[in-house]
Amino acid sequence: MRRMFLISSLMLLAVMSCSERQREDRVVERLLSQLTLEEKIGMVHANTMFSSGGVERLGIPSLKYTDGPHGVRWESVDNGWKSLEWGNDACTYLPALSALTATWNRDLARQYGEVLGEECKARGKHVNLAPGVNINRTVLNGRTWEYMSEDPYISAEMAVPYIQGVQSKGVASCVKHFALNSQAWHQYTISSEVDDRTMHEIYMPAFEAAICRAGAMAVMPAYNKVRGKWCSESRWLLDTLLRGELGFDGLVVSDWNGVHNTVETALAGTDVEMGTAIKENGLYAFDKYYFANPLLEKIKDGTVPESVLDEKVRNILRLMHRLDLIGAEPYDTTGMASRLATPAHVEVARKVAEESVVLLKNDCFLPLNPNQYNRIAVIGANADQVFAHGGGSTKLKAKYEVTPLQGLKNLLGPDVVIDYAPGYKLRNKQYVAAYHKFTDEFDMSWPEMVEEAVQKAAAADLVIYVGGLTHEHGMDCEGYDRPDMKLPYRQDELISAVMEANPNTVVVLMAGSPVELGEWHESARALVNCSFIGMEGGNVLADVLFGNVNPSGKLTTTWSMKLSDMPDHAIGEYPGADEKVHFNEGIMVGYRYFDTYGVVPMYEFGYGLSYTDFEYSDLEMEPVWKDGSRYKLSFKVTNIGEVKGKESAQVYVRQNESSAVRPYKELKGFDKVELLPGETKQVTVYLDRRSLSWYDAQKKAWVAEDGMYSVFVGASSRDVRLNGGFEYINH
Ligand code: GLC
Repeated sequence: MRRMFLISSLMLLAVMSCSERQREDRVVERLLSQLTLEEKIGMVHANTMFSSGGVERLGIPSLKYTDGPHGVRWESVDNGWKSLEWGNDACTYLPALSALTATWNRDLARQYGEVLGEECKARGKHVNLAPGVNINRTVLNGRTWEYMSEDPYISAEMAVPYIQGVQSKGVASCVKHFALNSQAWHQYTISSEVDDRTMHEIYMPAFEAAICRAGAMAVMPAYNKVRGKWCSESRWLLDTLLRGELGFDGLVVSDWNGVHNTVETALAGTDVEMGTAIKENGLYAFDKYYFANPLLEKIKDGTVPESVLDEKVRNILRLMHRLDLIGAEPYDTTGMASRLATPAHVEVARKVAEESVVLLKNDCFLPLNPNQYNRIAVIGANADQVFAHGGGSTKLKAKYEVTPLQGLKNLLGPDVVIDYAPGYKLRNKQYVAAYHKFTDEFDMSWPEMVEEAVQKAAAADLVIYVGGLTHEHGMDCEGYDRPDMKLPYRQDELISAVMEANPNTVVVLMAGSPVELGEWHESARALVNCSFIGMEGGNVLADVLFGNVNPSGKLTTTWSMKLSDMPDHAIGEYPGADEKVHFNEGIMVGYRYFDTYGVVPMYEFGYGLSYTDFEYSDLEMEPVWKDGSRYKLSFKVTNIGEVKGKESAQVYVRQNESSAVRPYKELKGFDKVELLPGETKQVTVYLDRRSLSWYDAQKKAWVAEDGMYSVFVGASSRDVRLNGGFEYINH
């Protein structure tokens, strides 16, 4: 009886979705048939910097896009990037996606997306240009901090709830940048060369999950070329993979200035052209865009069939229908200021920041006891720096931003003397990162600034160093790669000097990409890493250092001992030559490389300490797994310490004997549990056939081979606490 009910309800669902799709198609076809050629052309290119054309007489709105991944960009002028300086568009400045992913908390990713969706809607925007899910192939990429991880599985697992959250609020997510946008160096001209298997196993899964599981309504092709073709004109990417293999039926909107011609791009499958730098008298000439008059001409002369244009318009209308935009009133932006950065939204930003902080080292030094210190020296320019406005296209006008220095003052109050010394001067954009050179102006002051920092450190009971990277060019900033993994501004020397003056030093590195640690690291009593963690970041760092928050963040990108240990440098190719960069490391990205080639990292993927300790036990799994079913494995995690904490338990899988070269192990499951002291919880992870599979480029299929598989359950990719295994039998 129950089975029959299940089958009939599934059939009902199928019929409903089929009729929903039929209804949608009817709406789309009816509108399409009423549009003139010129009106259709107006819809497929920008009519302002952040919108594409509509057709008012048919109730088709102009589609409004906005950045970005961790907050809604301020309102800018129609023709250009300049802010309109509104007084009511300051937003919730959420932690960057590298921070969100470091929480390993899917629920937070959903809440984060909902905040973003609500604020996009309050600002009258239809499409949010995010998330960026490119895999961190080279950690020098200036957008590493903006992306999620070196691992495709966690990128997918965190992107799905994020997108579902955004789209649940009536805003389309535009997942980006498809694909292989892994470096800034020559990104507008270089071709990323990758084999089919690597593409499917490493660089596609996050996009596949975004589209097939989260239903992302839009995709943005990347700036670079792939196999010699710009992404916006690559049939392999946009047709074979995106529309073909992934079955994507949404909107393909170009990156800004990512379109380079009319015919190739129109035929390959980009639907809307945005941001092309074709100007007249210094202004963007939208009617001269490749998809404007030039495309009109190419259709009139038959070079481009009108049916190609119609398909673009269908994709636009389909997205609009799914957002209920057609014939509807524009999104109501009434009371905008009161709908942005609400207490509830800020609370989400704070929770994400709290769970994103990674405790890397702690020699019984943290958490700090506030009653123990009368004078604290806060050293390092990042302590007194705000970051929302930087980083490139993700820049924001935050409602406010609490710096680490302010956060410490907020927490400690007037009874504790806080002495601040920057130790070095930020250049804010003029930083010539490529050479780590100090211009005279800065060199002159550097010794004095170090001396000031050392004196204040020596006079204090405790030193809190807050340094790391910033959004200056050549650090964590779009458009530039870092020259190396080292801390800029000779911070290694500064940290050593400060620690010599006062060994009671906590080092906090704000960095959204891995850093090569100097000699000071060996003797550091405590080391904390966080990315750019949003408007509440300063308060959160203070709460973590003084124990109000127990850190639970874990690395999602490997921190190697040195740059040359990174796979793209060791066996791959970076930055490439002759306008090509070959991803020779293939599937061996990140921990896949370190674990397979036996290279020891400084801090591994999945690593992060807590102020308490966790014990893993009772791994339960069947000895044999029959094909076609999900495979359930469970284990227990116990908090064996004195304070409550959260633990992200990870499940890695290895195929013991494979016909193909495979990474030593791969992340295939995780869950985060909160535990009171002494509390035990059971964690259940489900594997499916895909969890075991590798992509066979010859068969063009995912292959799960019969045989023995090992399971590693642990607190990180190298801290394995439980081992198990099963036999997989295909039927
Ligand atoms: C940028 C970025 C893209 C962003 C777009 C609009 O250059 O590559 O991520 O959404 O332009 O600002």
